[in-house]
Amino acid sequence: MRVRGIISLLFLISVLLEFNVVYSYTRPPPRKNIFTPLSDDDDASSPQQVRVSQVGKDRMRISWFTIYPTPATVQYGLTPSANSFNATGVIDSYHYMFYYSGPVHNVIVGPLKPNTVYYYRMGDCTKVYNFKTPPSHFPIKFAVVGDLGQTEYTKTTLQHISDPGYDMLLLAGDLSYADTIQEQWESFGRLIEPLASQRPWMVTTGDHDIEKITFFHRRSFTAYNTRWLMPFNESGSNSNQYYSFEVAGVHIIMLGSYTDFDSNSNQYKWLQGDLNKVDRKNTPWLVVMFHAPWYNSNTLHQGEYASVEMKAILEDMLYKARVDIVISAHIHAYERFTRVYKEKANKCGPVYITIGDGGNRDDFNPYFMDPPPDISFFRERSFGHGTLEVTNATHALWTWIRNHDDKPVTTESLWLTSLSSDSACNGN
Ligand SMILES: [Fe+2]
Repeated sequence: MRVRGIISLLFLISVLLEFNVVYSYTRPPPRKNIFTPLSDDDDASSPQQVRVSQVGKDRMRISWFTIYPTPATVQYGLTPSANSFNATGVIDSYHYMFYYSGPVHNVIVGPLKPNTVYYYRMGDCTKVYNFKTPPSHFPIKFAVVGDLGQTEYTKTTLQHISDPGYDMLLLAGDLSYADTIQEQWESFGRLIEPLASQRPWMVTTGDHDIEKITFFHRRSFTAYNTRWLMPFNESGSNSNQYYSFEVAGVHIIMLGSYTDFDSNSNQYKWLQGDLNKVDRKNTPWLVVMFHAPWYNSNTLHQGEYASVEMKAILEDMLYKARVDIVISAHIHAYERFTRVYKEKANKCGPVYITIGDGGNRDDFNPYFMDPPPDISFFRERSFGHGTLEVTNATHALWTWIRNHDDKPVTTESLWLTSLSSDSACNGN
């Protein structure tokens, strides 16, 4: 009996590995949108919406809002007294239609030691926060999420990300689901602060991050650009919509699906230059993230310009650069493709992953094409998040963690090998 049980288990594993899989987890009904108010302990001078992001090799940008103007200064150090170092930054603000933001503070601190906890306090506030810097060498663990929004599902996802810990969070667009309602950006900033003030969050834009009112207002990223300043200057980009950075042997490129990408565009030229500068000896792993997926077998969002045209223009470039993984969002369901190039399995192409199901208010996208394309290896109709644990120069573990009601359940986990170590894919 025991032998038969083992054989059955091996058969089940082999089926899951060899064939395209759709899990039919039936999720409970949608949960309501939530608004995260200012804490009772906070006043108009208190830092709120605090978060950190990586800048260059060994610096972090600390960003926060206040209602009344306060100094753009940070005291920080290795002990809770947080008084070893001082840094001064800049204050920005913006308005959109009838909304006027409070002061946005951005202060860069460093140089910092890798994999180290720093304590910090902002302006005149006595409250002490802390963050941990990412490691400078493998291993490193990324939490990966898209279309986060701010619902009860979002809270579940954030809990599942927070509990086991991570070094850096990558968000593939559609952050707050503000859709021009600026107070939603504030609420989102307060919702994520417990996590985002402790680990660097690196993000790119999605369609719900755009301000656009038909006939009245052309497309802009006014709120995103002021609130979510990313290290574009440091990577030679002239736009906050696309940039790159390196961390612990991984070169990560963030692109803008809703920013010009044609062959005459600044984004196209910058991407070309950035890929040419990648040294796979220093950064064996090459990861690209943008919002609208190029490969998608969900019935929703088929044929969209941001997906189809961007793929037509940029796929060759990513393939020739031997990009290891492409992560997108937008579809509110999980899907993982094999290595792909021009619609076919190709051992030198990137693994494509869609993970636009962090917990947004639009509910999930339940319908997949049937039968699935043979390049699509795993599909699941659920909210959740992923983790990418890069253990060394050659191997990384990708894991998809479903929000099974309120429990984190791993339903796909696979080891990936970097193309930089695959001699058959180099020199082409
Ligand atoms: Fe989207």
